[in-house]
Amino acid sequence: ASDADGHLQNVGCRTLSLSAHVGFDSLPDQLIRKSIKHGFCFNILCIGETGIGKSALVSSLFNTDFEDSPSTHFLSSVRLRAQTFELQESNILLKLTVVKTVGFGDQVNKADTYQPIVDYVDAQFEAYLEEELKVIRSLFSYHDTRIHVCLYFISPTGRSLKTIDLLTMRSLDSKVNIIPVIGKADSISKAELQEFKKKIMSELVSNGIRIYQFPTDDETVSEINTITNGYLPFAVVGSMEKVKIGDKMVRARQYPWGIVKVENENHCDTIKLRRMLCTNMEDLKEKTRAYYESYRRCRLEKLGCRDLGPENKPVRIKQRAAELLTFLNFSLQEVIETKRLEFCLEVERKEEEIKQRFVQRVKEKAAMLEEAEQQASMPVCLEFVLTKFEHLTLMHQEEELKLGEEKKRLEDEIAQFVEKKAITESIQSQVSVSTPGV
Ligand code: GTP
Repeated sequence: ASDADGHLQNVGCRTLSLSAHVGFDSLPDQLIRKSIKHGFCFNILCIGETGIGKSALVSSLFNTDFEDSPSTHFLSSVRLRAQTFELQESNILLKLTVVKTVGFGDQVNKADTYQPIVDYVDAQFEAYLEEELKVIRSLFSYHDTRIHVCLYFISPTGRSLKTIDLLTMRSLDSKVNIIPVIGKADSISKAELQEFKKKIMSELVSNGIRIYQFPTDDETVSEINTITNGYLPFAVVGSMEKVKIGDKMVRARQYPWGIVKVENENHCDTIKLRRMLCTNMEDLKEKTRAYYESYRRCRLEKLGCRDLGPENKPVRIKQRAAELLTFLNFSLQEVIETKRLEFCLEVERKEEEIKQRFVQRVKEKAAMLEEAEQQASMPVCLEFVLTKFEHLTLMHQEEELKLGEEKKRLEDEIAQFVEKKAITESIQSQVSVSTPGV
């Protein structure tokens, strides 16, 4: 519900005016300070055929020469190469991860070209989910590698999208924010470019492929974003080279007939793309969180987890416990089994050790007795032999007592373990019985 001024009002919650300054108006400043201290992270996925200009574009977008080696055309499948860089502008730290496809579109059979990319995107969601489900988790310091934006490079053919483009974008449009770009756009004429852009957009629409739309609901950016949405797909030009124009070094591509300046909006859309990425970074991240939520929901539902209404609170708690057990079941059982085996082996080893020691002692005693007997048969003092014999017998009895105690202690330990195991198993079976279907 909202009041006449459009402010949100909670139902059952009164709005009061303060009689004096309290200080919670500093909350946004605290947030800013904390964010600046922690830094920001942004992850870009560049999909495009080998040599389409992925590296040159990313370097141009962030005005930094990222080291990268050219890819080969002879890979049997598509791979992904991720590199993380730390960039600083004023006092703002940006941890940028650039993930590039390697060998995209180079295979004769292109049927599964998109699969490694989908797997990569999912793997980042899975890694985050695993961190989230940890008992001791550190999401604040965790390096979140979920892809925030995917720059999809379209070849500047001037014709239409290729099947591989449609298939790849379709397989990803429910997982990442896709921004289509026309790579090496300086190789296509101005008139052809406009037609090509229109063609691409209509093909995307007719194939039901959802691409990222810059948000227009925030009035501070709605105007610029509405205009920029009209530029999609961006016609980009990238360059690693810098050319001196006047007294300034600018990123450009030099040709016999002239110079294409990367940062000139009349020459290409690279600068528009940079502006839009920077001004909408938070929105891209928010949308990524929404994609992650749907991945998380599917993943947990597959594991048998589901939410119940508040009326089922006790059931819900049991259900949660069962879900958690299901989730941890494999690893828990593995741990118990490993521990049990380790314990059995240890018990066996100790038993064997005791046996060996016992046998050894018996042999020693027998030898000593034999020796004593021999001595007794010799003409020596009978009293001395008897004393020695009694002494040895006593030592032998003591040794036997000690070994007996040690054996009992081990047997107790085994009994305790068996008892604990039985209790754990009974708890597990109680939970499974009370929540059928888990
Ligand atoms: P791989 O990593 O090998 O797949 O290449 P890539 O897609 O990262 O392309 P990269 O940026 O390495 O550029 C490959 C070649 O294309 C280089 O010779 C670049 O100079 C050139 N190139 C890059 N961007 C553009 C562009 O916008 N226009 C033109 N005409 N050439 C470009």
